[in-house]
Amino acid sequence: MTRLSTAITLSSGVEIPRYGYGTFRIDDDGAQAAVETALATGYRLVDTAVGYGNEVGVGRAVAASGLARDEVFLTSKVWEHGYDDVKRNLQESLERLGTDHLDLYLLHWPRPGVDKYVESWQALLDARAEGLIRSAGVSNFTVEHLARVEAETGAAPELNQVELHPYFSQPDLRVYHAEHAIATESWGPLGLRGGDLFDEPAVTAAAEAHGRTAAQVILRWNLQRGNVVIPKSVTPDRIRENWEVLDFELSQADLDAIDALDTGERQGGDPLEVGN
Ligand SMILES: NC(=O)c1ccc[n+]([C@@H]2O[C@H](COP(=O)([O-])OP(=O)(O)OC[C@H]3O[C@@H](n4cnc5c(N)ncnc54)[C@H](OP(=O)(O)O)[C@@H]3O)[C@@H](O)[C@H]2O)c1
Repeated sequence: MTRLSTAITLSSGVEIPRYGYGTFRIDDDGAQAAVETALATGYRLVDTAVGYGNEVGVGRAVAASGLARDEVFLTSKVWEHGYDDVKRNLQESLERLGTDHLDLYLLHWPRPGVDKYVESWQALLDARAEGLIRSAGVSNFTVEHLARVEAETGAAPELNQVELHPYFSQPDLRVYHAEHAIATESWGPLGLRGGDLFDEPAVTAAAEAHGRTAAQVILRWNLQRGNVVIPKSVTPDRIRENWEVLDFELSQADLDAIDALDTGERQGGDPLEVGN
């Protein structure tokens, strides 16, 4: 079996774990408990955002874990746009998380109707130069948004966190990412927001063949497609189930069958519309 490396190197040289833990729709108290479970299970990347309202809980969990700060890769995201607003939000996130730096900071949505994402991206580049964040990226950016920030600042984002699961696998965006050394990070990796992905024959057949659950097969497909993956669960047994995906390998036939589930339709928000 070809074991996947547990980290990939971003264009800045910073290493990001291939696999992490997401915290959307968990409040501060819930986040503290869930992130403590995730860190005890083995996850070393935690994904939060200003908009999730749980950075205090995430910070408490990291402090309670007994892990050194540099053993945990912390990501947060900023919703507001504008150079000064982004810088202020970053300081506030650092305070809530109880740390002096983030490992990765993302513009949460491009919000093209606001049309400030280029200056917001410049604020991230400056924060990286100042050492407040180790790596800088974006989320929910389309090819058009990515091309514009690179053209106007000379620097491509290191990573783009986007909706990505078998029903919406973003083949064209991933080609652009590969050409521009942009890592792909998958949100909503389990594709549970619509349809019956867990019952798709391509998924259930692979689950049976490998003695795994449907969730594990879907997460493993996402990893083998080269993405950083950040499943969320508040359920301790699922947190542990989702972690057990590094020690088996889907075949090329499994991967191809799951690829064929792509509908080209988003289940989550449209980057051209959210937050305008
Ligand atoms: N950048 C963005 O705009 C954006 C948008 C959405 C999400 N995200 C990030 O990506 C992370 C993951 O996305 P997501 O939370 O939307 O979706 P997800 O991780 O694909 O799915 C989470 C849902 O699946 C359930 N679940 C988890 N493991 C399961 C398992 N083994 N079997 C059955 N059900 C399972 C969870 O339930 P329980 O919790 O009840 O166990 C929860 O309802 C988020 O937490 C967040 O950090 C980013």
